[in-house]
Amino acid sequence: MQKEESGGGDRVALISGDCADLGTPNIELKNFPDGEKYVRMPSLAQCAGKEVTLVHRCYPEQDKSIIQLLLMLSALKNSQAKKITAVVPYLPYARQDKIKLEGETKSSETICSLIKGAGCDLLVTFDCHFIKKEGTVNYGGLTIDNITMKDPLLEYYLSTHPDALVAAPDKGATYMILMHGGKSMRKVRGEYAEGATAVRPIETLEMEFDVKGRDVVLIDDMIASGGTMIRAVRECKSKGAKSVLCAATHGLFLGNALQEMLAAGANEVVVSDAIVSGVSRVRIKPFLAKYF
Ligand code: R5P
Repeated sequence: MQKEESGGGDRVALISGDCADLGTPNIELKNFPDGEKYVRMPSLAQCAGKEVTLVHRCYPEQDKSIIQLLLMLSALKNSQAKKITAVVPYLPYARQDKIKLEGETKSSETICSLIKGAGCDLLVTFDCHFIKKEGTVNYGGLTIDNITMKDPLLEYYLSTHPDALVAAPDKGATYMILMHGGKSMRKVRGEYAEGATAVRPIETLEMEFDVKGRDVVLIDDMIASGGTMIRAVRECKSKGAKSVLCAATHGLFLGNALQEMLAAGANEVVVSDAIVSGVSRVRIKPFLAKYF
């Protein structure tokens, strides 16, 4: 990979500063005095005619990171790179993929068309919320390789709890449990609450399967407020589960989400390092080798 990062081969790797776990950083990211973003890729001149892989995390500070991403993609496009692959481990703005109320925006499509328009030929991401399956899809005009972390996350628990029952806390994560004969819970959200934060409270989260005396592994694409997992953990505990082990690809852990999950009865919580946290126990890097 070092050789590729120097631009000496047919591929060039450009790595953001917060992705040092995925390669050697070689992009300068700064702020102008008014807060606008400054980007410099010293290897840009070596990108003409090459396949370029740009690695950039877009969480936290999603808006800032997306602008940086778009600036870098535009510069790469202008540099006559042969193919531009962007690795964005957690894709922000992926959750609003439906219009529920008149006048809303489908931010998932907007973000993909912006990334495509800036010059991206292939976006590589992990357990993207609106895709709900692994593999290659086209969305908003953008080709996306959606890699799932379900296998290493489940293996983390199943290696020590081989008889555990695998479950998803809602239908959206069903693709993460199917191969393991897992079960899905049923989550129903209400209407948007009053106030400045756009949040639809969970009305019910129920299951129609037996967990009494079982170790249960709950897996989801993401933990944000933790509300979904907390309700799922409580449901399992109230129905007599022996232990409840939580896993997700993306751990945003807003507020005290992690502490509240443990207080609700979760025995352990693990996530991947798509977003790096203190409970990242599973690495995304091995899944990226083919893009370098
Ligand atoms: C929703 O459908 C997702 O798969 C997650 O279940 C949800 O985004 C998690 O958010 P929170 O932790 O805030 O409940």
